[in-house]
Amino acid sequence: MALAPPHSTLCFFVFFLMLLCSSIAQTQRNISLGSSITAVSNTLPWESPSGDFAFGFQQIGKDGFLLAIWFNKIPERTIVWSANRDDLVQEGSTVELTKFGLVLKDPKGNQKWTSDISGTGVAYGAMLDTGNLVLANQNFSNLWQSFNEPTDTLLPTQTLEKGTMLVARYSETNYSRGRYYFMLQSNGNLQLFTRNFPLDTTNFAYWSSNTADSGFELIYNQSGFVYLDAANGTVLNMLSSKATSTQDFYQRAVLEYDGVFRQFVYPKSNGQSSKGWNMAWTPSSDSIPSNICMKITEDTGGGACGFNSYCILGNDQRPNCYCPNGYTFIDSNDEMKGCKQIFEAQSCDEDSGDTDHFDFYSMENADWPLSDYEHYQTVSEDWCRKACLGDCFCAVAIFRNGDCWKKRTPLSNGRIDYSVGGKALIKIRTENSTSNSGGADSKKKDQTTLVIVGSVLLSSSAFLNVLLLLAACLVLRRFRQKAKVIKPDRSIPGMNLQIFTYAELEKATNGFKELLGNGAFGTVFKGVLALDDRKSCVAVKKLEHMVKEGEHEFKAEVTTIGRTNHKNLVQLIGFCNEGQHRLLIYEFMSNGSLAHFLFGPSRTHWLQRVQIALGVARGLFYLHEECSTQIIHCDIKPQNILLDDSYTARISDFGLAKILKTDQTRTTTGIRGTKGYVAPEWFRNMPVTVKVDVYSYGILLLELIFCRKNFEAESEDETQMILADWAYDCYAGGKLEFLVENDEEAMAEMKRVEKFVMVALWCVQEDPSLRPTMKKVMLMLEGTVEVSVPPDPTSFISSL
Ligand SMILES: *[C@@H]1O[C@H](CO)[C@@H](O)[C@H](O)[C@H]1NC(C)=O
Ligand SMILES: *[C@@H]1O[C@H](CO)[C@@H](O)[C@H](O)[C@H]1NC(C)=O
Ligand SMILES: *[C@@H]1O[C@H](CO)[C@@H](O)[C@H](O)[C@H]1NC(C)=O
Ligand SMILES: *[C@@H]1O[C@H](CO)[C@@H](O)[C@H](O)[C@H]1NC(C)=O
Ligand SMILES: *[C@@H]1O[C@H](CO)[C@@H](O)[C@H](O)[C@H]1NC(C)=O
Ligand SMILES: *[C@@H]1O[C@H](CO)[C@@H](O)[C@H](O)[C@H]1NC(C)=O
Repeated sequence: MALAPPHSTLCFFVFFLMLLCSSIAQTQRNISLGSSITAVSNTLPWESPSGDFAFGFQQIGKDGFLLAIWFNKIPERTIVWSANRDDLVQEGSTVELTKFGLVLKDPKGNQKWTSDISGTGVAYGAMLDTGNLVLANQNFSNLWQSFNEPTDTLLPTQTLEKGTMLVARYSETNYSRGRYYFMLQSNGNLQLFTRNFPLDTTNFAYWSSNTADSGFELIYNQSGFVYLDAANGTVLNMLSSKATSTQDFYQRAVLEYDGVFRQFVYPKSNGQSSKGWNMAWTPSSDSIPSNICMKITEDTGGGACGFNSYCILGNDQRPNCYCPNGYTFIDSNDEMKGCKQIFEAQSCDEDSGDTDHFDFYSMENADWPLSDYEHYQTVSEDWCRKACLGDCFCAVAIFRNGDCWKKRTPLSNGRIDYSVGGKALIKIRTENSTSNSGGADSKKKDQTTLVIVGSVLLSSSAFLNVLLLLAACLVLRRFRQKAKVIKPDRSIPGMNLQIFTYAELEKATNGFKELLGNGAFGTVFKGVLALDDRKSCVAVKKLEHMVKEGEHEFKAEVTTIGRTNHKNLVQLIGFCNEGQHRLLIYEFMSNGSLAHFLFGPSRTHWLQRVQIALGVARGLFYLHEECSTQIIHCDIKPQNILLDDSYTARISDFGLAKILKTDQTRTTTGIRGTKGYVAPEWFRNMPVTVKVDVYSYGILLLELIFCRKNFEAESEDETQMILADWAYDCYAGGKLEFLVENDEEAMAEMKRVEKFVMVALWCVQEDPSLRPTMKKVMLMLEGTVEVSVPPDPTSFISSL
């Protein structure tokens, strides 16, 4: 790390002071003594000269008003500072600028807050464009500034001095002082602490800069860097992994309610693609600490998610809190508050026979460090189970390589930790185990249930569809009346994949009753699961023809699939890997497959087909080039493209080729060597690359353009049997109109039809190296890249 010469830092500091002074002097909107704002719904705030920031009252739901500073030009009105976070004031309260400073009074005139200056002498105030609210005297020198009394946020040009701290808010919507501190100690050490809630004392330091005796101040400088420096200006700890321009982006660094310190940026101009606050540090795991679930392991206190819960870091790097089976959130609006048992505790009276009413639910890799009260070594799992079962104090047993730990409630610091392995045996009451406590909650959820009724995934007649629809409705009604909502509570760290038991899926699908389709990979059933506190339809795929590679391979592939996330892919929600059973759980696609859409009874629109073609191309491009592990689909065909509520194309069954014995000839239309969706290299001794998908996509594209199957045996004219050949002949002969003569919408866009046909013909070239990449396909379809004249796709074959 380069050391900044002390004098340059000093210069900068002086310059910075000058900047600050001049900006006060230039502020054309002095707030004069006697000015006041009243807390009513449409109250006007005091704005900074540019309008970027404003100071005034923000209404917090129905709870009252917060005297605050916020980003004023963005729709979110993100609050960066507040005066009365622990004590909201009622409508009609006022804030006034007096010579003693700002004074906040409730409607009865009682003082609720005041900016703390010693003595008098305030001449004016100013809301600056940096987000700093200053009160100054006659001589323009600052007597008070909001930057010196931060709440949970730092802004560019703001510093955190020794002995000051940020206090996280309680929850996303509750601004009062919450559970975490970010503190620059007076010895110069910068630390993150859990708070001994509700007291103000600190409990456990879960991150430290280790700069006792050298740290001086935490700086968020004009270039967007957040760092801790020494008194001589040396950077001791650079918190930012990179800086983002403060010219082009609004920025803030905030200790969030989950205990993580993060920096966010928001594009100022409208032209930017991703509006809204985005994490500034890349990878976003640079947030401090990078994994809060693992980082908080405290002797007293519940951990990142509270007592009896466990924590898993989500895709978005936020901790997600879950309750183990047999437990439920104490407060479903405050998941960090922990979980409670929903069954009656085990009787300690040996004669009661209560032991018989308990059993274990096992969770791989789950752990609650520090809650154990007994530890046995070189024992068997069976011994461990029995020991815990017969012990009324034992709530959970952890078994790992012959070690058995007994744990009592409240369990703390829960997490899924792959580095330790082993399993947790959660003791639950088997009978009478669901008390009424969950009842009120699930009722509330029932009302918000979205009933999604859809048609089948695979092509079938309209009549069958109607029947299945009716069945779906009936099943859904039965579910709503009777079945208990299954709340999956396990998932894989780093992604939103959930692990389900076979029993849960059996229940969710009502015993695998409603068949959605039968494919090369297995059978698909419809089910209903509670996801994100809402009942949602899902497609449950029972895998058959598994490659005998064992569990590891399956988990690895599922993890790869789970890491993908694109709007043109069917999202994998979770899986089950239990004994013989291998199941995958996907989002339910209400508009069935593309095969049904294209070749079914109803009429399709050209522009709709164009959108689908673009969507599939984008999804494939993502699989080939954009996701962390390249995925070759190997089986692109209309049956594997599904359509969601808005008829957006979503690719399904990707990533399965590796774990399943796919009989690729299955996917041809029955005639080997003719143009199925299968690239010719499958039949020759040639390596299989992403270009096999490009080939299949080309065939699919032709089908989309002409709304016709790639092979029609009943064709009167033999030259029209194979769509790709026919299309090339028509294209080469300049007679493409002939192919779309019945489609007025396409006829009106012959230029685009021709371009799409040309792209498709490039895709179906026999020679894989002639085929474009999916990226190029996408750019050509979108019109960004010109399409050249394609050669005869079969020229390669004839030259062999
Ligand atoms: C702001 O108020 C101070 C004190 O009254 C005054 O000296 C200064 O000129 C004012 N500045 C502007 C720009 O009005
Ligand atoms: C302002 O500056 C003058 C002269 O520099 C000094 O006499 C006076 O006390 C200062 N006023 C305040 C309020 O600091
Ligand atoms: C915010 O959380 C605190 C701490 O639990 C609680 O006392 C307070 O009532 C909450 N405030 C609101 C507005 O919900
Ligand atoms: C600045 O201070 C730090 C910490 O006190 C020290 O390690 C470093 O050597 C100093 N650098 C210079 C150039 O004085
Ligand atoms: C902010 O800090 C970084 C890192 O120390 C430095 O490179 C940059 O010049 C600083 N920017 C300003 C405006 O001081
Ligand atoms: C379940 O609870 C009810 C009422 O508390 C009791 O009568 C019944 O015997 C219990 N059943 C079992 C199997 O424990």
